[in-house]
Amino acid sequence: MLYYISIFLHIILAAFWIGGMLFLPLVVLPGLRQHPDRTAILYQTGVKFRFYGWIVLLLLLITGLGNWYFRGLPFEFSFLFKSEYGTLLGYKLLLFSCVLIISAVHDFYIGEKAIGQMQNSSKSRLKVIARWSGRINLLLSLCIAFIGVVLSRGGWAG
Ligand code: HEM
Repeated sequence: MLYYISIFLHIILAAFWIGGMLFLPLVVLPGLRQHPDRTAILYQTGVKFRFYGWIVLLLLLITGLGNWYFRGLPFEFSFLFKSEYGTLLGYKLLLFSCVLIISAVHDFYIGEKAIGQMQNSSKSRLKVIARWSGRINLLLSLCIAFIGVVLSRGGWAG
């Protein structure tokens, strides 16, 4: 039962994380294009998603470790180098670490500075970097989710 609960929570958290990263650029940004308070609303929305985003990333790590443990797999670091399934899980953890680093730089450095620049002029170089770091993180998270789906079916060898 704990295994099912861990997987269930893991999937819901993954949906929140990837869903949020799709919702912002596809719905919020276009919806605000003509809005006079665009930058302020964008800042408030960004700060709100940042707050829940980090909680979700932490819970994805916890439920991910839960999936690994409750699936009855050897719960040791060396397992990541011993089997095809382990190697795939290792790649997932590597990509997840990249998502954490890019999110930290995006959320606590580039994003803040970009919003500052956007308040002075619409032409902001940091805005473009913030946009691309968000897109790269979305791509990495989609790759992580795909690896997750393969892992859930026992790896490539299945
Ligand atoms: C952005 C972060 C992550 C996303 C979007 C994500 C997404 C997913 C998805 C969609 C599945 C497939 C669920 C299914 O088909 O039943 C999955 C499975 C899995 N994930 Fe993640 N995951 C993330 C992070 C992690 C981390 C950090 C770990 C390891 C510590 C992890 C370990 C696993 C494992 C072991 C499975 C297979 C579970 C099983 O069926 O036995 N995940 N993940």
